[in-house]
Amino acid sequence: MNRTPLVAGNWKMYKTIAEARQLVPELVRGLKEIQGVQKVICPPFTSLMSVKALLEGSGIHLGAQNLFWEKEGAYTGEVSPTMVAEVCEYVIIGHSERRIYFGETDETVNRKIKAALEVGLIPIFCVGETFDENEKGLTVSVVRRQVEAGLQGIELRQNGHGDVPLLVAYEPVWAIGTGKAASGEFANEVVREIIRPALASLFGEKIAGSIRVLYGGSVKASNAAEFFEQTEIDGALVGGASLKADEFIGIVCAAAVI
Ligand code: PGA
Repeated sequence: MNRTPLVAGNWKMYKTIAEARQLVPELVRGLKEIQGVQKVICPPFTSLMSVKALLEGSGIHLGAQNLFWEKEGAYTGEVSPTMVAEVCEYVIIGHSERRIYFGETDETVNRKIKAALEVGLIPIFCVGETFDENEKGLTVSVVRRQVEAGLQGIELRQNGHGDVPLLVAYEPVWAIGTGKAASGEFANEVVREIIRPALASLFGEKIAGSIRVLYGGSVKASNAAEFFEQTEIDGALVGGASLKADEFIGIVCAAAVI
């Protein structure tokens, strides 16, 4: 199965517009020559438009970190799928920080994924078990439930290039922002044994085999290759290291040489 690797940077709640104006030109310069990897950056809402202008012609794609599922209405503080789609191609949905701090559930994540697909956005759908769940041996049941519930009632089709407009990011919560990444082997096993079979039961083998699955959680330039050499891992969702040009460029380079 030929899946084009993809590396996405999740800036979280970092970088003002002024700071983004420093970082993005460095990324554009450093990533220009790197072929064969799709590159996505996901800044906060406030800097999306500025970053979009800076990315023009660079081949780097833009993503948001969240959306609301309603089309429009009296929802103070929320941003609709259509609004996001006016500016971005990708959107991160169900990140563990949103589940933990903002009360997102499998059900709301499902509504958001449906809403994103409806307007042509490509969701980067995040799943992953917490430290406690991992310790208690619940990784299989938690990750399977998140995938099945998050994607329930969704139909996916391959486009003319065989691409499916959905990415899954396996992000064990205990590895996010902790400096303690999962091992490549462990992450690969979760994708092979849990995520792909769950995708296959929902969409059939062919589509499941075309969906790109990223690893996220303390990925940096020095450990990225360990993930990219795994057969089931098709790229990375990068938090902290995406805020530093040399680190992010190093990770994209590692994805290019697999
Ligand atoms: P991290 O975050 O790379 O800082 O661990 C990953 C993520 O939250 O997507």
